[in-house]
Amino acid sequence: MRPRRLRRNPAVRRLVAETRLSPADLVLPMFVREGATGPVAIPSMPGVVQHSRESLRKAAAEAVAAGVGGIMLFGVPAPSSKDAVGSCGTDPNGILQLGIRDVVSEVGDSTVVMSDLCLDEFTDHGHCGILRADGSVDNDATLGRYAEMAVVQAEAGAHMVGPSGMMDGQIGVIRAALDAAGHVDTSVLAYSAKYASAFYGPFRDAVESTLEGDRKTYQQDPANARESLREVALDVAEGADLVMVKPALPYLDILRQVADAVDVPVAAYQVSGEYAMIEAAAANGWIDRERTILETLTSARRAGARIVLTYWAVEAAGLLQR
Ligand code: PBG
Repeated sequence: MRPRRLRRNPAVRRLVAETRLSPADLVLPMFVREGATGPVAIPSMPGVVQHSRESLRKAAAEAVAAGVGGIMLFGVPAPSSKDAVGSCGTDPNGILQLGIRDVVSEVGDSTVVMSDLCLDEFTDHGHCGILRADGSVDNDATLGRYAEMAVVQAEAGAHMVGPSGMMDGQIGVIRAALDAAGHVDTSVLAYSAKYASAFYGPFRDAVESTLEGDRKTYQQDPANARESLREVALDVAEGADLVMVKPALPYLDILRQVADAVDVPVAAYQVSGEYAMIEAAAANGWIDRERTILETLTSARRAGARIVLTYWAVEAAGLLQR
């Protein structure tokens, strides 16, 4: 046997490739910042910006033209808009809701418009939920806030909400709230297996996070795999339409196990730290940037992700088109 026969030229390699990557597989996370008058650079994520409402519209239209499968929106409120319960996350005129409305009016149904459903961007303490007097995160008090957020985001026009707060029971509560408000067609992309990861570092800059301490009482321990299957099973039972594993590259084993365990579409989130590492190494001339981008995205697909959220979505779509 000579396995090299099937590697001899690009045509053969293309014919036998087990994993294909196309623009429609990719989702672009985007940030919209309250009060911004133009795009604001994020130093730890070179090439990624906090958008103004105007630049968000334009960039969303560009993403659609590039053929991306979806857009995931994050709001960055002004520091003065943050409070203990994350009120601007449920204000119909909060920055995220305005961003959703702008993007939906710009792109309509030509791509899937998703919104991050979590409180951390909006709370002054930076946690993903409401705090008790002792500073711990109160799971069940937070659920009511998430339910409200889901309805407000759906009313702003989000096609799909992305609960990322890792509170127990969040998917069931969100699904029930959406249904009760008549948003039966708004789908839920559950961040089911979300690890307490150091790879979120640059994202905290991107959303100007005020968090002190960590999220280890609600996000998962990187040492564990089996509990991801439990989280995913619960989310599917509670009504998740899709499930996600996050981060991507350090958790490809989890992605494979999840993809084998469920019959709903599986997404992977290539997070800010994964982006920053590759950009930094490439800027130093230490790795081939474009090849590395496509290799990591292909790896997530090979490990079982149907969808990959990546800050390179538009650029990668261009590379794949060419
Ligand atoms: C929480 C949230 C985070 C990310 C997405 N949603 C940060 C966190 O959990 O601390 C991280 C995304 C990234 O690092 O690219 N709303």
